[in-house]
Amino acid sequence: MTDTPVLYVLNGPNLNLLGEREPEIYGRETLADVEALCREAAGDVRIEFRQSNHEGQLVDWIQEARLKAIALVINPAAYSHTSIAILDALKALKIPIVECHLSDPTTRESFRHHSYASLAATEIVKGHGARGYALAVRSALKLAHERATA
Ligand code: DQA
Repeated sequence: MTDTPVLYVLNGPNLNLLGEREPEIYGRETLADVEALCREAAGDVRIEFRQSNHEGQLVDWIQEARLKAIALVINPAAYSHTSIAILDALKALKIPIVECHLSDPTTRESFRHHSYASLAATEIVKGHGARGYALAVRSALKLAHERATA
Protein backbone atom coordinates (compact mmCIF):
# COMPACT_ATOMS: atom_id res chain seq x y z
CA MET A 1 0.00 0.00 0.00
CA THR A 2 1.39 3.43 -0.90
CA ASP A 3 1.21 6.50 1.34
CA THR A 4 -0.80 8.51 -1.20
CA PRO A 5 -4.16 6.81 -1.79
CA VAL A 6 -4.50 5.68 -5.37
CA LEU A 7 -7.49 4.30 -7.24
CA TYR A 8 -6.85 2.14 -10.29
CA VAL A 9 -9.25 2.45 -13.24
CA LEU A 10 -8.53 -0.27 -15.80
CA ASN A 11 -10.11 -0.59 -19.24
CA GLY A 12 -10.09 -3.59 -21.53
CA PRO A 13 -10.04 -4.19 -25.27
CA ASN A 14 -11.45 -1.76 -27.82
CA LEU A 15 -12.23 0.89 -25.22
CA ASN A 16 -9.47 2.99 -26.82
CA LEU A 17 -11.99 3.42 -29.67
CA LEU A 18 -14.70 4.95 -27.48
CA GLY A 19 -16.51 7.74 -29.27
CA GLU A 20 -15.95 6.13 -32.69
CA ARG A 21 -16.97 2.56 -31.94
CA GLU A 22 -20.72 1.82 -32.05
CA PRO A 23 -21.63 5.22 -30.54
CA GLU A 24 -25.30 4.23 -30.49
CA ILE A 25 -24.34 1.64 -27.83
CA TYR A 26 -21.32 3.15 -26.10
CA GLY A 27 -21.94 6.89 -26.54
CA ARG A 28 -19.93 9.70 -28.15
CA GLU A 29 -17.54 10.37 -25.25
CA THR A 30 -13.94 9.35 -25.85
CA LEU A 31 -11.77 7.45 -23.37
CA ALA A 32 -10.08 10.79 -22.58
CA ASP A 33 -13.52 12.18 -21.66
CA VAL A 34 -14.12 9.16 -19.43
CA GLU A 35 -10.73 9.68 -17.76
CA ALA A 36 -11.62 13.34 -17.07
CA LEU A 37 -14.94 12.25 -15.51
CA CYS A 38 -13.09 9.77 -13.28
CA ARG A 39 -10.53 12.35 -12.15
CA GLU A 40 -13.28 14.84 -11.35
CA ALA A 41 -15.24 12.23 -9.37
CA ALA A 42 -12.10 11.18 -7.44
CA GLY A 43 -11.34 14.67 -6.11
CA ASP A 44 -8.06 14.53 -4.20
CA VAL A 45 -7.54 10.82 -4.67
CA ARG A 46 -4.90 9.98 -7.29
CA ILE A 47 -6.06 7.90 -10.25
CA GLU A 48 -4.10 5.43 -12.34
CA PHE A 49 -6.20 5.29 -15.51
CA ARG A 50 -5.12 2.73 -18.10
CA GLN A 51 -6.41 0.82 -21.13
CA SER A 52 -5.08 -2.28 -22.85
CA ASN A 53 -6.23 -4.57 -25.61
CA HIS A 54 -4.19 -7.41 -24.07
CA GLU A 55 -5.45 -9.84 -21.44
CA GLY A 56 -2.01 -10.49 -19.87
CA GLN A 57 -1.35 -6.77 -19.55
CA LEU A 58 -4.64 -6.36 -17.69
CA VAL A 59 -3.70 -9.26 -15.38
CA ASP A 60 -0.34 -7.57 -14.64
CA TRP A 61 -2.07 -4.27 -13.84
CA ILE A 62 -4.62 -5.99 -11.57
CA GLN A 63 -1.71 -7.58 -9.70
CA GLU A 64 -0.09 -4.13 -9.44
CA ALA A 65 -3.36 -2.72 -8.06
CA ARG A 66 -3.30 -5.50 -5.46
CA LEU A 67 -0.13 -3.96 -4.01
CA LYS A 68 -0.76 -0.26 -4.60
CA ALA A 69 -4.46 0.63 -4.80
CA ILE A 70 -7.14 1.36 -2.22
CA ALA A 71 -9.80 0.22 -4.72
CA LEU A 72 -10.19 -0.86 -8.34
CA VAL A 73 -12.67 0.16 -11.02
CA ILE A 74 -12.50 -2.14 -14.02
CA ASN A 75 -14.27 -2.41 -17.33
CA PRO A 76 -12.84 -5.66 -18.68
CA ALA A 77 -14.93 -5.14 -21.87
CA ALA A 78 -15.17 -8.38 -23.90
CA TYR A 79 -12.82 -10.14 -21.47
CA SER A 80 -15.63 -9.90 -18.90
CA HIS A 81 -17.34 -12.71 -20.78
CA THR A 82 -14.31 -14.90 -21.46
CA SER A 83 -11.43 -14.42 -19.06
CA ILE A 84 -10.89 -16.76 -16.15
CA ALA A 85 -7.37 -15.29 -15.92
CA ILE A 86 -8.82 -11.88 -15.14
CA LEU A 87 -11.28 -13.41 -12.66
CA ASP A 88 -8.43 -15.23 -10.87
CA ALA A 89 -6.36 -12.03 -10.72
CA LEU A 90 -9.36 -10.12 -9.30
CA LYS A 91 -9.96 -12.82 -6.71
CA ALA A 92 -6.45 -12.24 -5.32
CA LEU A 93 -7.38 -8.65 -4.39
CA LYS A 94 -8.53 -7.66 -0.93
CA ILE A 95 -9.59 -4.14 -1.97
CA PRO A 96 -13.10 -3.23 -3.25
CA ILE A 97 -13.64 -3.94 -6.94
CA VAL A 98 -16.28 -2.09 -8.95
CA GLU A 99 -16.99 -3.59 -12.36
CA CYS A 100 -18.20 -0.92 -14.77
CA HIS A 101 -19.85 -1.24 -18.18
CA LEU A 102 -21.07 1.59 -20.38
CA SER A 103 -23.89 -0.52 -21.78
CA ASP A 104 -25.95 -3.08 -19.89
CA PRO A 105 -24.54 -6.34 -21.28
CA THR A 106 -27.38 -8.35 -19.70
CA THR A 107 -29.89 -6.74 -22.08
CA ARG A 108 -27.79 -7.46 -25.19
CA GLU A 109 -26.71 -10.64 -27.00
CA SER A 110 -26.83 -13.77 -24.83
CA PHE A 111 -23.04 -14.24 -25.01
CA ARG A 112 -22.70 -11.00 -23.03
CA HIS A 113 -25.05 -12.06 -20.24
CA HIS A 114 -22.40 -13.84 -18.17
CA SER A 115 -19.44 -11.94 -16.69
CA TYR A 116 -16.62 -13.83 -14.99
CA ALA A 117 -15.45 -10.53 -13.49
CA SER A 118 -18.80 -10.17 -11.71
CA LEU A 119 -17.92 -13.24 -9.60
CA ALA A 120 -15.19 -11.17 -7.92
CA ALA A 121 -16.80 -7.72 -8.07
CA THR A 122 -17.96 -5.96 -4.91
CA GLU A 123 -20.36 -3.84 -6.98
CA ILE A 124 -21.41 -3.58 -10.61
CA VAL A 125 -22.32 -0.37 -12.46
CA LYS A 126 -23.81 -0.91 -15.92
CA GLY A 127 -25.94 0.87 -18.48
CA HIS A 128 -25.15 4.46 -17.47
CA GLY A 129 -22.73 5.28 -20.30
CA ALA A 130 -19.63 7.36 -19.52
CA ARG A 131 -21.37 8.84 -16.46
CA GLY A 132 -21.34 5.34 -14.98
CA TYR A 133 -17.57 5.63 -14.52
CA ALA A 134 -18.09 8.61 -12.20
CA LEU A 135 -20.65 6.55 -10.26
CA ALA A 136 -18.21 3.64 -10.13
CA VAL A 137 -15.34 5.83 -8.90
CA ARG A 138 -17.49 7.35 -6.14
CA SER A 139 -18.75 3.95 -5.14
CA ALA A 140 -15.22 2.46 -5.06
CA LEU A 141 -13.95 5.32 -2.89
CA LYS A 142 -16.91 5.00 -0.52
CA LEU A 143 -16.29 1.25 -0.17
CA ALA A 144 -12.56 1.84 0.41
CA HIS A 145 -13.36 4.45 3.06
CA GLU A 146 -15.86 2.12 4.79
CA ARG A 147 -13.25 -0.65 4.90
CA ALA A 148 -10.57 1.68 6.26
CA THR A 149 -12.83 2.90 9.07
CA ALA A 150 -14.54 -0.43 9.91
C1 DQA B 1 -18.69 -3.31 -22.43
C2 DQA B 1 -19.69 -4.43 -22.73
C3 DQA B 1 -18.99 -5.64 -23.31
O1 DQA B 1 -19.93 -6.66 -23.61
C4 DQA B 1 -18.28 -5.27 -24.59
O2 DQA B 1 -17.54 -6.37 -25.09
C5 DQA B 1 -17.41 -4.07 -24.46
C6 DQA B 1 -17.85 -2.96 -23.63
C7 DQA B 1 -19.40 -2.03 -21.95
O3 DQA B 1 -18.70 -1.18 -21.39
O4 DQA B 1 -20.61 -1.86 -22.14
O5 DQA B 1 -16.39 -3.97 -25.12
O6 DQA B 1 -17.85 -3.74 -21.37
